[in-house]
Amino acid sequence: MYLLLLSLHSIVRWVVLIAGVVVFILALRGWLGKRQWTRLDDRLGLVFTSALDTQLLLGLLLYVVSPLIRAIFADFGAAMGVTGQRFFALEHALLMVIAVVVAHVGRARIRRTAEATVRHRQAALFFGLALVLIVLAIPWPFAPAARPLFRLQIG
Ligand code: HEM
Repeated sequence: MYLLLLSLHSIVRWVVLIAGVVVFILALRGWLGKRQWTRLDDRLGLVFTSALDTQLLLGLLLYVVSPLIRAIFADFGAAMGVTGQRFFALEHALLMVIAVVVAHVGRARIRRTAEATVRHRQAALFFGLALVLIVLAIPWPFAPAARPLFRLQIG
């Protein structure tokens, strides 16, 4: 169960990143080129926030079942001194939750706005900020809390 969740969490990260990059590029192009807001823009924003929601759910489940998190909470004070442990217990979880909130606030504001250029600008700013937070909080293989780029383990 744990390894399945961890593998899904690792894979869905790529859906989040690809969707995030696509919506950001389309938003910038729409904003700077003063383009129409299309149904595709709306659908892709939904794909991004839905992938993020799925990842949030997987992350919360991992937080409950992960042996790493259990070990951290067994001696929280000591774990805060270990970069790789503090990262997953605090920084990763917190920054990702903030990214999810920023993306949802952005989508809600876009839907309340009528003018196409303003919609694109809001998409670029909110989805762009969410994307930056996500990229910063991913445990890349070169980061102190290094994790693989792909994981496919189910038991
Ligand atoms: C929403 C965007 C998120 C992305 C893109 C993301 C990405 C990742 C990645 C790539 C890993 C490493 C997976 C591996 O070892 O193969 C990971 C690990 C982890 N994530 Fe996330 N995550 C997100 C949100 C969250 C949230 C919101 C939480 C908790 C509230 C969370 C909790 C964890 C935990 C606990 C681990 C380590 C589990 C372990 O090693 O036992 N994640 N995450």
